[in-house]
Amino acid sequence: MPALTEAGLLSFRQIRRCVSHGSEHGYGISDPASGRRDLEDVAEILSAASESDPFVAWMLPDTQSRQRRVREILLFVLSRLDADRHCYVADQGAAVWVPPGGWRMSTWHELQAIPDLARTAGRSLPRALYGSAVLDEHHPEAPLHWYLEALGVVPGNQGRGIGSRLVKARLERCDAERWPAYLETANARNLGLYERLGFTVSEEFHLRRGPSMWTVWREPMTGT
Ligand SMILES: CC(C)(COP(=O)(O)OP(=O)(O)OC[C@H]1O[C@@H](n2cnc3c(N)ncnc32)[C@H](O)[C@@H]1OP(=O)(O)O)[C@@H](O)C(=O)NCCC(=O)NCCS
Repeated sequence: MPALTEAGLLSFRQIRRCVSHGSEHGYGISDPASGRRDLEDVAEILSAASESDPFVAWMLPDTQSRQRRVREILLFVLSRLDADRHCYVADQGAAVWVPPGGWRMSTWHELQAIPDLARTAGRSLPRALYGSAVLDEHHPEAPLHWYLEALGVVPGNQGRGIGSRLVKARLERCDAERWPAYLETANARNLGLYERLGFTVSEEFHLRRGPSMWTVWREPMTGT
């Protein structure tokens, strides 16, 4: 198992190529031109990781095109609001965080996004829009918080502590800066991981003819 120290996180090839956004461990991908290759790496990792994700399987039922479509959707999402996102990448794992107040797209941006989303999601567009609307409905507006928008480790590397380390890298800063953190998941197995990291389940809900989802919340901790 690779040593995944904080210093190690920064020494990985992928993260060095990310464009620094000013924070010590988090790297925003703030220049779409030079950051394009990094975005592609992150989208590749997350789409490979999502092969077993119940939300993704529900949204994109066609198994043949699923991974390609997920990669395109992720690339599209990451490159639209790239300056707002902080990305941690290490050892074929990636965590994408949205800073406090930045998670909700304005109606104008949502409308502008529909043609691109239609192209990438294809016939799954209604599900993608419905799924995203339901997630938004359950997403708390207040208090302001960091939002873990995407997390994944490629299948061959799962279960080695990489995902935990990636999430901890941001949670340590949340604690130091006194920010809560939030995310949603469609995989019940992930709840154990998040609970170990200090999150608690705040809600369970069901997508129409789709999977159960859980929202989890974490207050900043002291003395960690
Ligand atoms: C969830 C995920 C990011 C965790 O990263 P990881 O490096 O595999 O996890 P760690 O080794 O740090 O911690 C292990 C814990 O992760 C969770 N986990 C979820 N799926 C897992 C998998 N396929 N293999 C291993 N652990 C998994 C479990 O809670 C596990 O603890 P357990 O073994 O006691 O059940 C990773 O397994 C993954 O990419 N899964 C598929 C995509 C996904 O679910 N993303 C999160 C969406 S909210």
